[in-house]
Amino acid sequence: MPVHVLNQTKSLKAIHSVIRHRDTSHSLFVFQANRLIRLILEKCFELLPYQPYEVRTPIGELYEGQQVSKPLCAVSVVRAGESMEYALSSILAGFPIGKILIQRNKVTKLPHLYYAAFPEDIADRYVLLLEPMLATGGSAIMAVRELLERGVPEHNIIFANVLTSPEGLARLESTYPNLTIVTSSVEKRLNEEAFMVPGIGDFGDRYFGTTRQGAAHGQA
Ligand code: PRP
Repeated sequence: MPVHVLNQTKSLKAIHSVIRHRDTSHSLFVFQANRLIRLILEKCFELLPYQPYEVRTPIGELYEGQQVSKPLCAVSVVRAGESMEYALSSILAGFPIGKILIQRNKVTKLPHLYYAAFPEDIADRYVLLLEPMLATGGSAIMAVRELLERGVPEHNIIFANVLTSPEGLARLESTYPNLTIVTSSVEKRLNEEAFMVPGIGDFGDRYFGTTRQGAAHGQA
């Protein structure tokens, strides 16, 4: 399975230092997470297949360009995956978005599929699967399985991710060897509560401000 980890530059680590810091405010977390997600998505775009695309410039000359060789769509794993839609909309205009609602059981950590809605022609599209957290890998495996059942070839899926655990990565790799993964960090391990170490906490809670700690004031 092709796994692409963003270059661990100081600039990338500075972003991680903000979003991993336990005391970072909700608004700063969202701002820097959006910046990081955009870097991850730009890497995904580098990995898509392209075909030659010639255009004429305003002065009448030809430019030998490129365009993605198939239509794209995004599928976000609700809830945390929806955090990646904003950054994607700043890169790509007018793309369909599928949704798949998978929630882990708080005790067993096993994923449960509640709902899925995909573009009707999804089998003919490249799919950017948006899911910031890959912990045990259970949610990701379930999400990919739903895409395959809708006829999307495994090699047409790019899993766009912020943090992954070595354990989750190994499971995903053995289950779907032709999937492409882009992530900004492979963490050290999972702890007993299936949180990544050193990790970031609960990405969904932090991005959407739903915990008391660092929650948004919600004032105009
Ligand atoms: C979290 C996270 C991922 C999933 C990863 O979601 O956002 O979706 O767990 O864990 P796994 O790899 O062990 O399956 P959660 O179910 O807590 O819901 P949320 O998106 O609402 O935070």
